Order: sequence, then structure tokens, then C-alpha cells
Amino acid sequence: MSTKLELKVNDNVVTAERGELLLDVLRRAGVLVPTLCEHPGLEGVGSCRLCLVEVNTGRRSQLVASCLYPVEGELTVLTDSPRVNEARRFVLTLLLARYSDVQLIEELARRYGVKPVERLQAEPADCLLCLRCVRACAAQGNGAIATCLRGREKRVSPPFDEPPADCVGCGACAEVCPLGAIKVEEGEGKRRIWGREFTLVHCQSCGEPFATREQFDYLRKQPPDLLVEEELCPRCRKLDQALRISGSTT
Ligand code: SF4
Ligand code: FES
Repeated sequence: MSTKLELKVNDNVVTAERGELLLDVLRRAGVLVPTLCEHPGLEGVGSCRLCLVEVNTGRRSQLVASCLYPVEGELTVLTDSPRVNEARRFVLTLLLARYSDVQLIEELARRYGVKPVERLQAEPADCLLCLRCVRACAAQGNGAIATCLRGREKRVSPPFDEPPADCVGCGACAEVCPLGAIKVEEGEGKRRIWGREFTLVHCQSCGEPFATREQFDYLRKQPPDLLVEEELCPRCRKLDQALRISGSTT
């Protein structure tokens, strides 16, 4: 069975790999789809519903979260139909009512012509509960943060709100947060995050601080194929590999 499929997206024909996520196909084709909870490299959860698009398989037409929808057959996809725009505006109306002070939400609402309605109830404006941070931590093999409490009280925190023993200070959680809500401070050779302090490691080649001692300690305890011998930043590691391939180093 061929792995290549042809999709009709709005008025264009777009090629996709069987099993590829629809959002990735649309992005590759340059089609703008708003997203919030999705982040490349993290497993999707489909919680924000902003990426809804209309798909027609020939048998039925439905709204799907494109970040979770694998393309398995030929499809017609509409990303800007009245049905899609109505659903998107509904999602944005709720988000705007809840997080009216969040610039990212305000901008999206403006783009889709959504006007503010009476506020449902104030939410801490520094967290959308998109859980990118929790998924980023899990993707590193750690579980230093999670959601706690329920309903309107729900929030992200380390267990018991204490400095998390499992944290290695990699900062991936802060990196993926769309609001910059997770505070990371660096200075005097240290990185501080989630109430803990970590020792920064400097690249053996360029001297730039790029990771924490605890990250390396963690990686060195992983299976041998992950064994990290040299402490090189990503840029110097790439250069080192390129030089090795070209035979310029031993
Ligand atoms: S802290 Fe940031 S990444 Fe984590 S859930 Fe809140 S908004 Fe999302
Ligand atoms: S980006 Fe949030 S549901 Fe798809």
C-alpha cells in the first residue's frame, strides 16, 4: 500500500504521508491553524480545541482536532469554513472570558473577531493549563511537575509544592510555556527553577553555560547508548561531529 496520500485542502491539493498528523500536513502546506496546547516534539493532548478543522472522508464530514488526527485515507479538509470559524470563535470566546488579561488569547480573539463577553471567573493569568510544561518534563523522562487540585483550583506544581527532587534543572518546562510563566533565573554559575538551585556546566569547547551538572548526572545513569562523555553544547557537538565525519579530527 502506498504511503503517499493526496488531500484536498481548501482549494489546493496537498501530499501527505499515511499516518501523518493532519496539523503537520497543514503546516507544511503553509495553512495557518491556531494552536495552544500543541508543541512540536511533545505528544498531543487535544485539550484546547483551537486547531479544529473540518474533514470529509466521503462518507461523513466532521470537526476534528488536527493536532491529534492521523491521515489514513484521502480527505477533503476545510480550515476556514463557516463551521470551523464558528467552532473556533466559540472556543476563543470561552478562553477570552476566562483569561481576558492574557495577551496571546487577546491576539487570537482579535484575529478571529471575537469580542470580550462577561468574564466567567478570574483565573490566574499566568497559566492556561495547556500542560506543555508537564509533557515536556515527562518527555525528558522526569516527572518533577504535575497538575494538582481540581476544577477551578487546578494548577501545575511540584509534588506538595516543594522543590522537586526529580527535577534536573533542564528548563524544558519553561522553554515550552507559551506565557513564559515558569521562572528561571541564572547567575553566578547557577540556575534556579522550581525553588531549587542547579550548577551550570560550561561547554568544554566554547565555554558557554548550556546545561546543569544534574542533567549530566541523570544522563550518565541512562543506558549506554545515551552515554555522554564530552560536555559540549549542541552547537559545538554538531561541529565536532561534522569534523569527525570529514576526518579533520581524530
Ligand atoms: S505553566 Fe505554561 S506550559 Fe505549564 S500549563 Fe501553564 S501555561 Fe501551559
Ligand atoms: S492544538 Fe490544542 S487541541 Fe490541537
